[in-house]
Amino acid sequence: MKPSTLKALTILSSMLISPITWADKDTPEVSDPVKSGEYIFNMGGCSSCHTAKEGKALAGGLAMETPFGVFYTPNITPDKETGIGDWSDEDFIRAMTKGEAPDGSHYYPTFPYTSYSKMSRHDLLALKDYLNQQTPVVSENRPHDLSFPFNLRSLMGFWKMVNFDETPFVPDKDKSQVWNRGAYIVNGPGHCGECHSPRNLIGGVKSEEALAGNLEGPEGEKVPGLTMAKENRVSQWSDEDLLFSIQIGMTPDGDFLGGSMGHVIENSTGKLSQEDLKAIIEYLRDSES
Ligand code: HEC
Ligand code: HEC
Repeated sequence: MKPSTLKALTILSSMLISPITWADKDTPEVSDPVKSGEYIFNMGGCSSCHTAKEGKALAGGLAMETPFGVFYTPNITPDKETGIGDWSDEDFIRAMTKGEAPDGSHYYPTFPYTSYSKMSRHDLLALKDYLNQQTPVVSENRPHDLSFPFNLRSLMGFWKMVNFDETPFVPDKDKSQVWNRGAYIVNGPGHCGECHSPRNLIGGVKSEEALAGNLEGPEGEKVPGLTMAKENRVSQWSDEDLLFSIQIGMTPDGDFLGGSMGHVIENSTGKLSQEDLKAIIEYLRDSES
């Protein structure tokens, strides 16, 4: 039996024992800084990109193939020479919310700071705290292998002017707290739109078509739409169906989601609390079709 199937069965059986309730509960505050840092790290799904197959945790080196060339993720362990161990809190916040390195150069948006920029300062500091406590690994960053002109980092300044909306997350007062929690996770740490939204010719997310699906997702995958538009199959799914799909990856017809969503479930949504998963669903339910 595949480990994912086994995990699915374990979770399913525990759910049968304690049936799901859909009470409109607020997300409880996680006050322990270490625990909450780990939880935020999971919301962000950082391992999916910063831990290479068979590589040391968070030491980077994962190859990301794109139409512009191959990106190699950097080492984000607290090693002072080759990782981010000597970064200040402000260096980290600037990288995550402005896509700028400590030396002022621009990051490529393969690092989804375009979404992480919506994360709260509180969450980012807790995340940094958590990263500081991980095992430092000495591993030099491998330079990206990009074609001209994409190898020019300075071009990203222009890209950002056109595509990067730096405004922080602002809760919508007309919506419930649960909806707002869902909006925060989906558009911030969960960075769902980075894959589920279509992009323009230069790779910027088309904000007016948020979560409408993407024919050319990561590694050329077709990424389904998540809005309640009729053509998206999630519009036919019940809340429980949606919950199972993002918690254990099982769809109502008994298939398992795979590709890059497999990593999202394994490293991120599969580790979130029931309350947060329900908040995501509440937000998706209300998305424009
Ligand atoms: C989709 C893949 C992806 C995910 C998910 C991702 N990153 Fe990255 N990250 C990258 C890439 C690629 C770069 C390099 C960007 C560049 O060189 O311009 C990067 C760069 C960084 C940097 C800058 C490192 C340096 O040495 O300059 C930090 C810090 C970072 N990521 C932290 C995080 C954290 C924290 C998370 C989770 C909340 C995360 N990343 C999630 C792909 C990702
Ligand atoms: C790294 C890219 C990526 C990210 C980030 C991502 N997804 Fe996905 N998602 C996919 C892909 C690819 C599929 C299709 C998988 C398959 O068919 O096996 C998918 C499928 C799904 C499905 C099933 C829809 C259907 O019609 O089959 C749901 C629900 C879903 N994702 C929700 C989310 C949510 C919620 C988030 C954010 C917390 C998220 N995804 C983030 C790539 C991504």
